[in-house]
Amino acid sequence: MKITLSVIKADIGGFVGHSSVHPEVLNRVKEVALEAKDNGIIKDVSVLACGDDIALVMTHTKGIDSSEIHEVAWNAFKEGTEVAKKLKMYGAGQDLLSDAFSGNIKGMGPGIAEMEFEERKSEPVIVFFADKTSPSAWNLPLYEMFADPMNTAGLVIDPSMHEGFIFEVLDVYTGMSIKLNTPEELYDLLVFIGATSRYCVKAVYRKKDREIAAVASTQKLSLMAGRYVGKDDPVLIVRCQSGFPAVGEVLEPFARPWFVEGWMRGSHTGPLMPVSFSQAKPTRFDGPPRVIAAGYQICEGELIGPSDLFDDPAFDQARLDASLMANYLRRQGIFEPHRLPPEEMEYTTLPKVLEKLKDRFKLVDTGRPKIHTEGEVAE
Ligand code: F6R
Ligand code: MG
Ligand code: MG
Repeated sequence: MKITLSVIKADIGGFVGHSSVHPEVLNRVKEVALEAKDNGIIKDVSVLACGDDIALVMTHTKGIDSSEIHEVAWNAFKEGTEVAKKLKMYGAGQDLLSDAFSGNIKGMGPGIAEMEFEERKSEPVIVFFADKTSPSAWNLPLYEMFADPMNTAGLVIDPSMHEGFIFEVLDVYTGMSIKLNTPEELYDLLVFIGATSRYCVKAVYRKKDREIAAVASTQKLSLMAGRYVGKDDPVLIVRCQSGFPAVGEVLEPFARPWFVEGWMRGSHTGPLMPVSFSQAKPTRFDGPPRVIAAGYQICEGELIGPSDLFDDPAFDQARLDASLMANYLRRQGIFEPHRLPPEEMEYTTLPKVLEKLKDRFKLVDTGRPKIHTEGEVAE
């Protein structure tokens, strides 16, 4: 049976501040989504929360980009927003950029990751969901899962993975994407995906048969709205086992925390901390950024799960490491590299301050040739 897995997420109001979601808001979103299940529009739904974001994990047979399915999510978030507004939750409805649904949820605020596949004899998938970061946070773990044999032994050992994977990389500024083959184009791939402020991995395919392996949400909310309206806290779907990386190979990159963009005010770097569902409440300096992993077995389109995969003492050390990494960065306060460079900050007062003080800048004789401004003739 061909199944579509659609994960659609939004921040429709925080409790308290930007730290988590109020249970009444979550319940309303669930209720509306379950109505769509009762009406036969979707086969199943599971609702996740990470920090101040809610994700609807839905299965159906309508393919990707189905307006009917997008509308289910839109209505659920709209209804949830009503409750959030009633309770005066913080930033109620902040990710819903329009008043009315117009056929496709893309560009309307919520983040979305969808894939369609023939359900295998057994279909284990993991939905990752992060708060206080952006889609390029997945670049490093996706590289390790699908292209690094030091992480994924299956790339060497499993004949069906041995040919490698194809990465689809998106330039978030131009909207152009490119497909690169690994292992042969690995270094080209890394030129792009190591530049996390511009490029993010959109999807991964198994080279042998072009089967879809992973899909990430790649919205950049600030670019979409043309101004800062909240972060694009991302989701990622990964299929596991039998010719895809094993569950443990998919989770392993998260045991070694790395730095991502998006902490406090979307303007700081911080370690991505893998946590259980109940620990996904970022309160230290509005962070550090969190990620949860929800495991499902899909059975005839039904979502059996979620299993809370980072709820494992084997990830305790990663949490401690992330806390220590956070301490080192917090020591830098408002100084880079904890603070992001100006062009990466979600909002900045720099242009205003520069404008206010521009007449007080004086040219200093540094010994270097004079920089000619437009219209001046070089001597
Ligand atoms: C939001 C976030 C927070 C806010 C911060 C300021 O996802 O990461 O760190 O940016 O709490 O929020 P405002 O500007 O709404 O007061
Ligand atoms: Mg928020
Ligand atoms: Mg958030």
